[in-house]
Amino acid sequence: MSTDLAEFIRGIPKAELHIHIEGSLEPELIFAMAERNGVKLAYPSVEALRAAYAFTSLQSFLDIYYAGASVLITEQDFHDMAWAYFERAHADHVIHAELFFDPQTHTERGIDIGVVIRGLKRACDAAQEIFGIRARLILCFLRHLSEDDAIATLEAAKPYLDDLIGVGLDSSEVGHPPEKFARVFAMARELGLHVVAHAGEEGPPEYVWSALDVLQVERIDHGVRSIQDERLMQRLIASGMALTVCPLSNLKLCVFKTLAEHNLKHMLERGVRVTINSDDPAYFGGYINQNYLETAAALGLDRDQVIVLARNSLEAAFTTTSERRADLDTLAAYCTKA
Ligand code: ADE
Ligand code: ZN
Repeated sequence: MSTDLAEFIRGIPKAELHIHIEGSLEPELIFAMAERNGVKLAYPSVEALRAAYAFTSLQSFLDIYYAGASVLITEQDFHDMAWAYFERAHADHVIHAELFFDPQTHTERGIDIGVVIRGLKRACDAAQEIFGIRARLILCFLRHLSEDDAIATLEAAKPYLDDLIGVGLDSSEVGHPPEKFARVFAMARELGLHVVAHAGEEGPPEYVWSALDVLQVERIDHGVRSIQDERLMQRLIASGMALTVCPLSNLKLCVFKTLAEHNLKHMLERGVRVTINSDDPAYFGGYINQNYLETAAALGLDRDQVIVLARNSLEAAFTTTSERRADLDTLAAYCTKA
């Protein structure tokens, strides 16, 4: 890739729509928090922990990811984790970020949901104030737990509804289809929350269908397996449904053997509204710009395709009409200048 294109990619204004904030916890921060909170870790050092990041599947990653999140105890911890992410996002020219968080990972350990949300919200407000990043929170339900547990989580979050833009669905996909969460998603929609779900990461195209038809999601997280179902592809294209694709995640979790085999460019050229995101950047080898850069290099994306990816992210964001217009103007100004 030319250095000009790499520079262009680094500076292009973009939205990040698929980032699990617990997946931004770098090993150094995990160790610092473990020490200050007196939490015992299964690894003796930062290096040993990082060396364990050799995943063979989504589940092999999730086991380590949930263990890493166990160091988060105080409101300040949640703030500090999100703040470290915003510093990276700012450097990567993210102008709008929607952060997934997994409250059940913390409430299961006795942490109050208010501690989680207040800490994250304080960091979001500071990101707006200091970096001009518009930041929003999406509460994710863990799909390996029951729907009743998800409903209890939504109930517990009710005092903080104004701090949330939506709900999502994550964790172990296969064996936990979207329709398992039909009631809680209906309740969330009723509350005026946006709805998204992970589907078609490791799971089959049928899970993407039920995320669309049963959960009535507004974006699909991952969705790369949709390519196995031509009728589904037609549906995604015709409806302009956005997919929040995470190429380095897909590589690290063995969804694709190499980045060169990733189907993002194919989807883009067929007219699917794909976006590039980082998923769990501390675990998968790079933040959003690294995802753009490595994908563009491996697939030979050109400048126009990079612009479409960034525009897709700004258009698929949960923003108001005037926010979206302002973001697209920012993008257009950058493209004429750069
Ligand atoms: N939680 C954190 N990262 C995830 C991913 N890639 N898929 C499902 N659940 C997750
Ligand atoms: Zn994800």
